[in-house]
Amino acid sequence: MTGYIPEEKISEIRNAADIVEVVSEVVRLKKTGKNHVGLCPFHTEKTPSFTVNPDKQIFHCFGCGTGGNVFSFLMKHDGTSFPEAVRSLARRYGIDLPQRAPTAQQRRQMAEREQMLAANRAAAGFYRRCLTESKAGQTARHYLKNRRFSSEAIDDFRIGYAPGGWDNLLSELGAKGYSAALLEKCGLVLPKKSGTGHYDRFRERVVFPIMDLNAQVLGFGGRVLDDSLPKYLNSPETSLYNKSRSLYGLCQTKKHCRKTGSVFIVEGYFDLIALYQHGIRNAVATLGTALTAEHVRLLRGCIGSEGRAILVFDSDEAGAAAARRSVSVFDKGYLDAQILTLEAGHDPDTYVFEYGAEAFLNAADAARGAIPFLLDSAVGKYGLSVEGKVRIVSELIEPLAAIGDEIKQSLYIREIAEHLAVDEQAIRLRLQQAGERVTSAGRRQSPDAARQQDGPGIGQAARIERHLMAMMLQMPAVLPDIERNCVLDYFENGELRALGKLILGSFQEKGRQDEVDTAAGGGAADRFVSEILDGVTDDRQRRLITELTSLEEDWSIEGCRKLIAHFAETGRSRSSARDISRKIREAEKNKDDRLLKKLLEEKQQLAVQRDRKRMALTEKL
Ligand code: CTP
Ligand code: MN
Repeated sequence: MTGYIPEEKISEIRNAADIVEVVSEVVRLKKTGKNHVGLCPFHTEKTPSFTVNPDKQIFHCFGCGTGGNVFSFLMKHDGTSFPEAVRSLARRYGIDLPQRAPTAQQRRQMAEREQMLAANRAAAGFYRRCLTESKAGQTARHYLKNRRFSSEAIDDFRIGYAPGGWDNLLSELGAKGYSAALLEKCGLVLPKKSGTGHYDRFRERVVFPIMDLNAQVLGFGGRVLDDSLPKYLNSPETSLYNKSRSLYGLCQTKKHCRKTGSVFIVEGYFDLIALYQHGIRNAVATLGTALTAEHVRLLRGCIGSEGRAILVFDSDEAGAAAARRSVSVFDKGYLDAQILTLEAGHDPDTYVFEYGAEAFLNAADAARGAIPFLLDSAVGKYGLSVEGKVRIVSELIEPLAAIGDEIKQSLYIREIAEHLAVDEQAIRLRLQQAGERVTSAGRRQSPDAARQQDGPGIGQAARIERHLMAMMLQMPAVLPDIERNCVLDYFENGELRALGKLILGSFQEKGRQDEVDTAAGGGAADRFVSEILDGVTDDRQRRLITELTSLEEDWSIEGCRKLIAHFAETGRSRSSARDISRKIREAEKNKDDRLLKKLLEEKQQLAVQRDRKRMALTEKL
């Protein structure tokens, strides 16, 4: 699975990496107790249940159950493979990985995704050289200069040029060993309509690489240098590039978004880069596609749930359409959006170049929430006659209905009613009628409900067993006690017993007995759990591990040892109860009434004793 990255390198990277630091890049975390918590990037939530444990170097979301170590976090968040996650951490922490050129066999082993990324990287490099070095690149250089691109921006965004001709990229990358089939998968070339062979998709265009948060190139957009059509050509959706998930520029701007707790959402490449050049670096571009809930979630991870997202549009018209759409999208992502429309005839690109950054930021200060924005634009359109007001209310019903938060909805209803001088109740009635048409299928689940769904949390026995398991994970110093007392043999819950065996197994395998005492002392991060996780392929088991590790507990080693001894003792008495039951069945079969009576009494006594012990045990928890 790890390709050709040696195991000891993976260990080295694991030890160097800090999960809090890595997660903080994309999720705002707050320290609470020994954990850090924030809003989960893997599901939509309003109150933080996403937990990062710095001691154990793992994360777990109590809302959706996702969990893992630093590698799995990156894999899940960036949609990358294990080797990619390892490599990106190696880069980040300055650890050298053997950079051998892959042999034919290794190349076969490389995941397709990685081959595609490599091809995209090579393509971006080729386009860049064409822009900066080639004679043919001159017109493109002129074009960018005319559009006032600085060389810093060209570098930061890795902008390039795809020259004219049909197979420049194809032959350049072909010579480097990238097959036409692979390039086709990347959307870089297309099969010829007639005959065989392929041709370049991007020709005579300025090319913008579209990158993920790790600066890996997922796709491209290309603009013509004149007025010919189509103005833009984009990579198709590929296994790498997914429009509804990627936001142009976020790789370059995420740290600014995080720092300012705000983001401008613009439409085009030029808009984003123009803002960037004017020092407005907290921005992303949707590249003309409608904003999705996934985009919103991604952004919220950067700016926090209280952050400010400002949608910037060229005109009131486009702004109103987008505002209407955005209400429910942002509502699903638990983020409030504001709408900013620029004066007629301007997009952010032309606006900042004409009026400067300060004017843009001043205009942004006046940005309003989507509903007030829609209200204003409807008033502008229909006027405040009786007729006008009826139409305004009609137009606002749908966006109002899209607001999931009842308090927020109610505040807006009041605002609209006051502004239009109509009865609040009349608006509510209209809303109700609309609501009856739309089913309440989109109702959200509370985190508590999600929490209760899973996990083997049934009954007293399982509760104690879960505690023991949490101890094993959080305090490896107890592992020798668990082993010596054969604690796992007394587990009733098979899933937990299997997990316990896994933990003990990898503990013995790593020969960590000698390290235990130091690890128990706390302080330095213990990567034991993180290591176990790399070997776990079952989602349910992974989830159980991260959940139990993330529980906030304050145990003393002595307390743990007592509990373990106690549990083992009740376990032993339970197994003698099973022995008695077996003997009882035999006595019944043999119709030995005297023995039967004696055994039943014995069983009764054992049950009483056991209940007493159980009670004592439960009280300790
Ligand atoms: N777009 C696209 N295909 C088109 C037109 C637009 O993919 N045929 C996307 C591009 O990502 C573009 C964005 O929508 O950047 C906004 O479109 P538009 O406002 O028309 O272009 P600008 O970004 O303003 O480009 P320019 O300033 O160069 O005209
Ligand atoms: Mn423009």
